[in-house]
Amino acid sequence: MKPRLLIIEDDENLRTQMKWALAQDYEIFMAEDRLSALKVVKEERPTVAILDLGLPPRQDEAVEGFSALAHMLEEDALIKVIIITGHDEREYALQAINEGAYDFFCKPVQIDELKIVLHRAFYLSQLEREHGELQQLLSKESFEGMLGTSPQMQEVFTLIRKVATTNAPVLIVGENGTGKELAARAIYRQGARKEHPFVVINCGAIPETLLESELFGHEKGAFTGAHIQRKGRIEAAQGGTLFLDEVGELSPTLQVKLLRFLQEHRIERVGGREEIFVDSRVIAATNTDLEQGMREGRFREDLYYRLGVVVISLPPLRDREGDIPHLAKVLLQRYASESKKKITAFAPQALRALETHSWPGNVRELENRIKRAVIMADGPLVGPADIELASSYAKYEGRSLKEAREALERDFIQRSLAKNKGNITKAAAELNVSRPTLYELMEKLGIDKK
Ligand SMILES: Nc1ncnc2c1ncn2[C@@H]1O[C@H](COP(=O)(O)OP(=O)(O)OP(=O)(O)O)[C@@H](O)[C@H]1O
Ligand SMILES: [Mg+2]
Repeated sequence: MKPRLLIIEDDENLRTQMKWALAQDYEIFMAEDRLSALKVVKEERPTVAILDLGLPPRQDEAVEGFSALAHMLEEDALIKVIIITGHDEREYALQAINEGAYDFFCKPVQIDELKIVLHRAFYLSQLEREHGELQQLLSKESFEGMLGTSPQMQEVFTLIRKVATTNAPVLIVGENGTGKELAARAIYRQGARKEHPFVVINCGAIPETLLESELFGHEKGAFTGAHIQRKGRIEAAQGGTLFLDEVGELSPTLQVKLLRFLQEHRIERVGGREEIFVDSRVIAATNTDLEQGMREGRFREDLYYRLGVVVISLPPLRDREGDIPHLAKVLLQRYASESKKKITAFAPQALRALETHSWPGNVRELENRIKRAVIMADGPLVGPADIELASSYAKYEGRSLKEAREALERDFIQRSLAKNKGNITKAAAELNVSRPTLYELMEKLGIDKK
């Protein structure tokens, strides 16, 4: 396909002359006034346009030309417009450049010069468009440090953008390492409170006796060891965002106190009598099944509904279509350049192993395996062993189904025998076959009892 060029010129002679000279290199569209030019820009999307400023009905002035220029740029901000003016109208040309034109020419037009300018204009436009596409792709792939091109993650990003501008409590649920804290920070950074503190408290990591004063603070003398008054984390989040991590671990007593805070935005420090008003947004996260917790009476239903006005569910990594290789590649680039090692890619078996692994530890596990691989890899390629996913496949490659099956049986039986210290009865029970069958298999596969 030839590059698309629009010539806007009311002088028919000049128009045809240019067309003849340029038709070999470009697909040419022609227009003789402002309206027909705009129509072509809308419908044919030319990359570059040559524009004569003196257009009918006012050939002797430049108004029509300037108006055409403005409208064309409005329609397509990336279009490159090359102005043609009369010889004594240089100031028009400069003004046009000021208003967004790419370059200008004075009549009479020298075709050779025009060709060079056109060539540059098309080249620049192509670069600009490619750059724009790349930017768009990058901004779509990563959101506040969260990677993910899968439809599942794009949905999560959309939801985060929506809730970020509100003050509604958000509950983030998902398996270990799915990015719950990262999502909480994304909500915070996209929201109106980003100039105020983001305060994290991990309800699962602090013993219950300390957690209450950690959350609500205490007055001097509230308990042995309370030598001074201390503000809690909730107060520290005044005006900002409070992130309650592992909220499923809260004791029943603290659940009641937290509920009161969520309902009334007021707290009392431990040992205090004064009520303190706290305006903070609450984001909570958990990897436990709170609904089951409610059924079993471990988690208060009223608290659940207060926390989860909006629930964001982070899908496990294995369910994110296309994200495993994408994340793996981006992370590999990142860690490799940090460590200044020249590691460029995954070996095909490593990629396959990444895709078939079930990722119980989700993104955190992927990060750790890739960090490890960067340390372990010797050459430019990361192999399955470097990510500790030496896939069981690798050793079957190139074998027939029968050979592969036997190799697997041999491994399996040897492992069971080793585990049971050569005890045939126990190994047979574990493998769920009779003793004679096991003996038979060992004989066939050439396995020694030891
Ligand atoms: N979509 C993602 N893109 C890039 N990195 C991610 C993504 N999700 C998580 N991570 C990274 O994985 C690690 C774990 O993320 P995070 O701590 O947010 O998970 P979590 O769900 O809170 O885990 P846990 O349940 O163990 O508390 C972090 O290092 C984080 O930067
Ligand atoms: Mg976490």
